[in-house]
Amino acid sequence: MTICETITARHSVRQFLDKNVKQKDIVAILDAARHSPSGSNTQPWQVAVVTGDTKQRVTEAMVDAFEEGESPNPVYQYYPDPMPSPYYDRVKACGIALYQSLNISRDDKAGRRAQWAANYRSFDAPVMLIFWMEGIMQTGSYMDMGMFMQSTMLAALDFGLATCPQAALAQYPDILKKQLGLPSDAIILSGMALGYEDTEADVNQVRTAREELNNFTRYYD
Ligand SMILES: Cc1cc2nc3c(=O)[nH]c(=O)nc-3n(C[C@H](O)[C@H](O)[C@H](O)COP(=O)(O)O)c2cc1C
Repeated sequence: MTICETITARHSVRQFLDKNVKQKDIVAILDAARHSPSGSNTQPWQVAVVTGDTKQRVTEAMVDAFEEGESPNPVYQYYPDPMPSPYYDRVKACGIALYQSLNISRDDKAGRRAQWAANYRSFDAPVMLIFWMEGIMQTGSYMDMGMFMQSTMLAALDFGLATCPQAALAQYPDILKKQLGLPSDAIILSGMALGYEDTEADVNQVRTAREELNNFTRYYD
């Protein structure tokens, strides 16, 4: 595949095979991703690779917090509130496609909560990645982190692996800091599920739409 084909082929996967990922593949993926660009080569990224018993503990703590109605306290606000068109329309379309694929109806609150909670298990992927940076880092480094995450997702495809970036995993930063021994001021940006795609799963057939190029590009000659 060309790089353009790889970028186009990547999609978020939310159901994984019960098959472990080789440690050497995880290392190779992150070894490629560390070549991502960053402002003045600051390389602000820190990654926690969470598997096995630790993943189980992290998941249980986050699911408990969610079930007990603990208020999420992410370090940053992802979206504008309220969110206007066209952004809200895209969020809505994305949610509808996802829930339809899972047979979760509009008024099925329990079903929606269960799907959200599945985030805390990284959709049962064998590997949960947590992307964070030191508390002193500023807004510019968020761009670097995004590039590092995209590199990770594209590199994973080289190893036959699939991903789903997960801002949901940044909802309870204090739990991650405690469970993973991260600094108290760590900026936890996102998680990511990593594993082998269950290509038969309905949820993995969802493909999100993209705006036409001409709707967001202007050429100045
Ligand atoms: C930074 C980031 C955080 C995301 N967080 C979540 C998440 O918490 N849960 C989830 O199911 N999908 C999450 N997604 C996946 C998006 O919904 C998905 O990328 C988008 O709908 C486009 O679909 P695609 O990835 O299949 O191309 C996230 C994506 C990004 C880039």
